Amino acid sequence: MSVLRAEHVSYSYQTKYQTIEAVKDVTCEFEKGRFYAVTGESGSGKSTLLSLLAGLDLPKEGRILIEGEDLAQMDRDRYRREKASVVYQAFHLFPLLSALENVMFPMELCGMKKDEARSRAKELLASTGLGEKSFTQLPQMMSGGEQQRVAIARAVAAGGEILLADEPTGNLDTENEKNIVELLKNSAHEKGYAVIVITHNPEVAAQADEVFVMRDGRLKVREEAV
Ligand SMILES: Nc1ncnc2c1ncn2[C@@H]1O[C@H](COP(=O)(O)OP(=O)(O)O)[C@@H](O)[C@H]1O
Ligand SMILES: [Mg+2]
Repeated sequence: MSVLRAEHVSYSYQTKYQTIEAVKDVTCEFEKGRFYAVTGESGSGKSTLLSLLAGLDLPKEGRILIEGEDLAQMDRDRYRREKASVVYQAFHLFPLLSALENVMFPMELCGMKKDEARSRAKELLASTGLGEKSFTQLPQMMSGGEQQRVAIARAVAAGGEILLADEPTGNLDTENEKNIVELLKNSAHEKGYAVIVITHNPEVAAQADEVFVMRDGRLKVREEAV
């Protein structure tokens, strides 16, 4: 059974003047141990779909299933705490915690000992290519690209089975982009997460096991590498 599945999912935004159908009848499924990319033009519904998969909002029609269980019937905060880690476009780091403490946080929350969480967090941060002198900095002292890497390390540290990321390499140069793609790929292929990444970057998409393309709210499978 797939770990995450969308079944005929639709979502619309109601504004004062119109209804915007952002996601239309999308059916797709994601398995553990695979790295997925979702591409498509701006406004095609990618972020909306991600927020539905993350349980931040419920579909207006259709269902999201987590290992066969309807997300609408589940405790969705708990789902995000225990199963699904989300990397948002705007990072959402804890402003009063250093880079290292941000990454340690989800591990300590799960009951890991502080020393272990610290060494694990250092490893993860290093694997994103972030220099050691940034580890003790607060987010506001860091560049966008540095914050992005901390956010990704924190999501991987959370250790859920599903990792969802919205444009995780959007602020990075080629070198750091490679580090992040490696980390996301390893999270799928070695740790067995289902990794789902929204990206505009064809080079990131080229690394995925499967690529979905969104167009005008609808989802198409572009290719499947076996
Ligand atoms: N909060 C919102 N209120 C109204 N319309 C929205 C909102 N968020 C997104 N939309 C609209 O929904 C559509 C899909 O947006 P989005 O999911 O952000 O696309 P993408 O991530 O592919 O750029 C767009 O037409 C966008 O303008
Ligand atoms: Mg978006």
